[in-house]
Amino acid sequence: MSLTHISLNDFRNIKALSFSPSKDLNLILGQNGSGKTSLLEAIYFLSNGRSFRTNKYKMMIRSDQDKCVVHGKKQLHNLSIPIGISKNQSGETQLRIQGQASRKIAELAQILPVQVITPESYELFFGGPKERRKFLDLGVFHVEHLFYEVWKNFNKVLKQRNALLRTKPTNCVEQIKFWDKQFIDLSEQINIYRKAYISRFEGYFFDKIGGISSVFDGLETRYDAGWKGELSEVLQSQLERDLKLGYTSRGPHKADFNFKIHGHSVEGIMSRGQLKLLLYALKITQNNLIEQETDKQSILLIDDLPSELSSETLECVARLLANCNSQLFISAISSESLTPVVELLEKDIEMFHVEHGRLITN
Ligand SMILES: Nc1ncnc2c1ncn2[C@@H]1O[C@H](COP(=O)(O)OP(=O)(O)OP(=O)(O)O)[C@@H](O)[C@H]1O
Ligand SMILES: [Mg+2]
Repeated sequence: MSLTHISLNDFRNIKALSFSPSKDLNLILGQNGSGKTSLLEAIYFLSNGRSFRTNKYKMMIRSDQDKCVVHGKKQLHNLSIPIGISKNQSGETQLRIQGQASRKIAELAQILPVQVITPESYELFFGGPKERRKFLDLGVFHVEHLFYEVWKNFNKVLKQRNALLRTKPTNCVEQIKFWDKQFIDLSEQINIYRKAYISRFEGYFFDKIGGISSVFDGLETRYDAGWKGELSEVLQSQLERDLKLGYTSRGPHKADFNFKIHGHSVEGIMSRGQLKLLLYALKITQNNLIEQETDKQSILLIDDLPSELSSETLECVARLLANCNSQLFISAISSESLTPVVELLEKDIEMFHVEHGRLITN
């Protein structure tokens, strides 16, 4: 169950390129500016219709071209599922799954669970709750099948509630109270799904992953639901403040899933390399859980893996990756910089060299 074929047209600096990756480990090698990150970005785009680098979709389209296109074939048991996605200059996305036009990007994410780690990921991840909440919800989304519907409904209610807090129509307090019933019900459901997922996550992490490096000694997880106590009372006591702010300040949209080491915040105490290693461990735990629960192989994209990591840390990354069944796409400037990783991995490896947006075959 992996991507068996990938082709790109007019994506960033890549005019046309196609390749058949290994189901295990793919190394994307090339000089600065050759197109390595673009190649990973294209796989990410194929998996969920967005870029991990930018919200400005036009940046993905090769200069002076009308649209960028990415095709892939996903092997699922005996089935080969063709997937195609394109984005044009007007921002229209066209998606085809098994030859059928589809409008559901979420369907795509179900077929191709993907995670990405870039040299900047750890700053975003440990810098504020937003990325951690996204990470948590991605896991819940794949593992708890009813979560997406609840999450979507909650966001609709939150939007309505915030609009009332912002515009303050004459009977807004009554209207807010009307929405609060659903708000509370959906919030509690989200909280239950998240807690169930975190408990599986902790079980897997401490059982299988935590022992890989002493850097993880003393690690604990911390979950903040986004409110404390009875939500109905919290909403009531916060109403005046929320009316001033113009938005709902408590609820599952403010949740956090964070990590402490011997009681200290990890971002305050760990070095950059150690934080990167922790992020690898967390993402690999998540991918393995998704695979275990859904019987789907997921994809892990790692951009510029060796950057800032000493050979000792690279060996720890290798031990983590040895525990990871995802289809891996790893970019680096040279294969030498990946030696400590590759040496330890017994995986089927394919190497792809990128030069000026083209693949060079040896
Ligand atoms: N929309 C676009 N159209 C054409 N070229 C683009 C577009 N967007 C980016 N580029 C160019 O694509 C090239 C490849 O960029 P990319 O970020 O993929 O390189 P890279 O191999 O990851 O380099 P590095 O090792 O420095 O990270 C760069 O020269 C960049 O200027
Ligand atoms: Mg790059």
